[in-house]
Amino acid sequence: MELTYYGHSCILLKGARTVLVDPFFPEGMTPPPADIVAVTHGHADHMGAAVTLKRPTVAINEVAKYLKSKGIPAEGMNIGGTITVEGVAFHMVQAVHSSWIEEAGIGCNGGGAAGFVIGMEGKRVYHAGDTALFSDMKLIGELCHPDVALLPIGGRFTMGPEEAMIAAQYIGAPLVIPIHYDTWPVIRQDPGLFRAALQRTTGIRVNILAPGESLTI
Ligand code: NI
Ligand code: MN
Repeated sequence: MELTYYGHSCILLKGARTVLVDPFFPEGMTPPPADIVAVTHGHADHMGAAVTLKRPTVAINEVAKYLKSKGIPAEGMNIGGTITVEGVAFHMVQAVHSSWIEEAGIGCNGGGAAGFVIGMEGKRVYHAGDTALFSDMKLIGELCHPDVALLPIGGRFTMGPEEAMIAAQYIGAPLVIPIHYDTWPVIRQDPGLFRAALQRTTGIRVNILAPGESLTI
């Protein structure tokens, strides 16, 4: 399976199907073609282009309901559940965060925020979405055994690098990719320090991807 990072929290998984998670393109890149879109929560830097992409979109019920009202074939689900779309398994997990769908300067409640463990071709990718550190990340490791964990390190709106070091150990995935940093000055971080600290103190490998960069997992 090939994983491409588009910056912020946006990743594309390419295997038997192509899955685009959190389709927000801070670098102004053209959204890649995707069979399925997954949205972790209603904030604009995650839902992004979900309305214009018009693909089958997996999201928490409240966000799915909103997308359906825009004519998107959305698949609603909730935390703890699993659905299979075109052979790709989406297991929705907890995220400690909020969710709000902005529209016309006001908006509506997006339900809760979530993360996904996405299973395709025998590999499992955990996309944590926006979240604080929480100890039940241990359960995600225990239940799902992800091969890769995508973890926010930006701070302010999510956990920062210190908490993400603990998260990585709770989850136990052999590979971690930092996300949700450097998009704006308020979430500026040095991912190299995070990588050095985690690799010095654990057996976990950290791969820093520049926007547009891919990795085979
Ligand atoms: Ni958010
Ligand atoms: Mn965010």
